[in-house]
Amino acid sequence: MTALGNDAPIGVFDSGVGGLSVLHAIHAKLPEENLIYVADSGNAPYGDRDAGFIAARATKITEILLTRGAKAIVVACNTVSVVAIERIRSWCPVPVVAMEPAIKPAAQNTRTGVIGVLATRQTIASPSVARLCQSHGQNIEILLQPCPGLVEQVEKAELLSDASRALLVEYISPLLAAGADTLVLGCTHYPFLAQLIRDIVGPDVAIVDPAVAVARQVARRLGDQCVSTPHPRPAEARFFSSADPDDARTIISVLWGQNVTVQGIE
Ligand code: DGL
Repeated sequence: MTALGNDAPIGVFDSGVGGLSVLHAIHAKLPEENLIYVADSGNAPYGDRDAGFIAARATKITEILLTRGAKAIVVACNTVSVVAIERIRSWCPVPVVAMEPAIKPAAQNTRTGVIGVLATRQTIASPSVARLCQSHGQNIEILLQPCPGLVEQVEKAELLSDASRALLVEYISPLLAAGADTLVLGCTHYPFLAQLIRDIVGPDVAIVDPAVAVARQVARRLGDQCVSTPHPRPAEARFFSSADPDDARTIISVLWGQNVTVQGIE
């Protein structure tokens, strides 16, 4: 038992509602763990913002989660992870689990030797992604595709709209034309567009979402620290957002799959 207690919640955050795709995977893997989720939707998207802004918001939200008693932090945002993860880990007193685009498993499983990576501009341009490409791209081609606009579509719950489809077609068509048989979803918003993506790519292209692997990593870290909850009870999820409270409640309820209340943060 730590000072925080094993019943303390896991704190999860993202620039907006995309990290709910990771929250679903954590809840499926660890249904007895309490969860707190912060969506910084009032400031999304982060993908075109500068690194200083992203790092400052990440610090502030991590502090909010710690104040609410989080026993671990999950950075459910690739953009924050590639820009600010060292900074958060340098001072955060609880385990921090981060995202990275799943380039390694995609590179191991491609049959055509061509993979596509869909992510925000910040993520695509980051040294972390350059390192991943260097480590795992020796004998394959890795096509990096920035996808401005997609985060906004998910923030508006436009999961099946014509506008979302048009953007996806624009970004994915060149990857398919170049022979990609595997698409890495390098942004936690994109799994909510999975139905449209599947429609566009057909049944034979693999779509790789690292959320389940991240949930496994969260379970491992809690186990290592001996802070898993011992109570087999249904867990509670609490939601916070920097967006207009009514908008936040509507979108989070849709993406979480049940009606929730949402508290405001600045
Ligand atoms: N969900 C965030 C990610 O994984 C989106 C970042 C943004 O707001 O641009 O990168």
